[in-house]
Amino acid sequence: MQESLEGLRETLGECARCSLSQGRNNIVFGDGNPEAELMFVGEAPGRAEDAQGLPFVGPAGRLLDRLLDDIGLVRGDVYITNVVKCRPPGNRDPLPEETEVCGPFLQDQIELIGPKILCALGRVAAGLMMGKGVQITRIHGQRFDGPGYFLVPVLHPAAALRASSNMYLIRQDFRNLEAYLADEESPPEPPTPEPEQMGLF
Ligand code: URA
Repeated sequence: MQESLEGLRETLGECARCSLSQGRNNIVFGDGNPEAELMFVGEAPGRAEDAQGLPFVGPAGRLLDRLLDDIGLVRGDVYITNVVKCRPPGNRDPLPEETEVCGPFLQDQIELIGPKILCALGRVAAGLMMGKGVQITRIHGQRFDGPGYFLVPVLHPAAALRASSNMYLIRQDFRNLEAYLADEESPPEPPTPEPEQMGLF
């Protein structure tokens, strides 16, 4: 594994490991505090993110900023990235072969940052981290033990923009995040990796 996020970004290079590279304008690697206690993982860059090369800078990102503000945080306090680093055409869900090639980069980002809380934003990120069968509508806002961090799936900000009934729920999810951050309990120890077993999560 690389020793820094900069090194990892260099390894990613002008990535052409999957076909998403063909339609992208910019790789959206991630942004924020490399020592963040709270790390967010979204689904994939959208149009605005692809244009700017930064995560969550469109409408969903503006809501994310407001939700952070509600719990006394700014972007510079947290780290934000996505499951895949390039925009899928028409904002479709990332395909399994795309999450498979991008996954090791996300895993290295998580290990380098070492957050106390890894927050999965929405169904796709929660599915990757907790198994495809998870239902975000049932588990959002709850805290689970992950390998070296607490895992907290929350509703995706875009879902709250689509349906105002989700706005109340996502605000509550963020209040839960605030409480989990304040809780002094330490996250579970990361497992000692077996040389052979370096799979994702
Ligand atoms: N939605 C996401 O999941 N990620 C982004 O970066 C922007 C919107």
